[in-house]
Amino acid sequence: MNASFDKPLLAALARQPMPSPPVWLMRQAGRYLPEYRELRAKAGGFLAMAQTPELAAEITLQPVRRFGVDAAILFSDILLPLQAMGMPLRFDEGKGPVLPEPLNSPERIAALTRPDPETDLAYVGEALNRVKAELSSSTTLLGFCGAPYTLACYAVEGGHSKSHATLRSMMYREPALFDELMGQLADVVADHLNYQIASGADAVVIFDTWAGTLSREDYISRIRPFTERALAPVLGKAPVMAFVLDGGHVLDQVVDLGVDGVVIDWRVSLGDALSRYGDKVAIQGNLDPALLLAPPDVVAERTRALLEEAGGRPGHILALGHGVMKETDPESVAAFVETARAAVVSGGC
Ligand code: CP3
Repeated sequence: MNASFDKPLLAALARQPMPSPPVWLMRQAGRYLPEYRELRAKAGGFLAMAQTPELAAEITLQPVRRFGVDAAILFSDILLPLQAMGMPLRFDEGKGPVLPEPLNSPERIAALTRPDPETDLAYVGEALNRVKAELSSSTTLLGFCGAPYTLACYAVEGGHSKSHATLRSMMYREPALFDELMGQLADVVADHLNYQIASGADAVVIFDTWAGTLSREDYISRIRPFTERALAPVLGKAPVMAFVLDGGHVLDQVVDLGVDGVVIDWRVSLGDALSRYGDKVAIQGNLDPALLLAPPDVVAERTRALLEEAGGRPGHILALGHGVMKETDPESVAAFVETARAAVVSGGC
């Protein structure tokens, strides 16, 4: 391995040939882990944990200690910068995020502020510092942000929505207002990613979970320019990975953002993605998180099949296509990680 890459995940993002792919999981910390549930019961809730650097750092490290994954992803949430912009935010048990003052008027959008991450999101920088101090030199520390469209989905709908009808209506009927909001979000995303890099994140992920619900045409003309605006000040400072759930129809457009890696889900073929785009970007994925509900031997078998499909090509990062589900047995996560590690021993991956 190149000496400048003592971290396997960074080597894979630079598409260095490697004996076996690095492995980590989106939402690798969380409610499926008994040690997380124990801390959560003491802390009193998700926001309290995410905004107390000592607790956020401890939770970030839990899956790293338990499974020996190649990355630690900061325990935080994409919606916290919205709170720093002036939007009240809660996480209700069993319901997820609630934003009780959604952006449903031009006045509310005009009242948003551009946070200074060093003061308004200082708990994020402090948590990153704490994690960095504990991590081994081979583990990559990941920061992250939501992309402007996905943030707008929550900010305008006020929480989870299946159709994003209020936001889509704004996009078609009030294009100037939509663009104004997306532009503000893009600048906040850029600031927040750069702050995380300055605070020790080795690489960052931009999550555009809901952009895949759009047509290719709308993604290209209405959404992607704002993702580009968010990433322009960040690219080159640290490696960037981009994720669009169910985004096979826009994958070429995501690759062309100039990112170092793209995350694909189980609806996109890993082999095809590596063949098409493996000379430009690293490809992360793509086991269906529901497969971790299967017994460990089935998890191992399907993971081996995925490794075979990747065929040891440079730039593969073994991961899920979306986050770990809360119903997952930690033993299945262990089987996933151990199968990746065993690929080295048997000489193939
Ligand atoms: O991956 C990690 O382990 C790091 C932490 C992380 C969280 N959220 C913690 C969290 C990350 C990277 C996110 C990103 C995030 N948050 C996304 C993008 C990625 C994706 O999953 O598509 C989105 C869309 C959100 C918004 C969000 N936050 C939702 C919809 C929910 C409720 C759903 C759920 O799983 O409960 C959250 C809450 C949340 N964010 C939890 C965690 C661990 C659950 C908190 C709890 O109740 O303990």
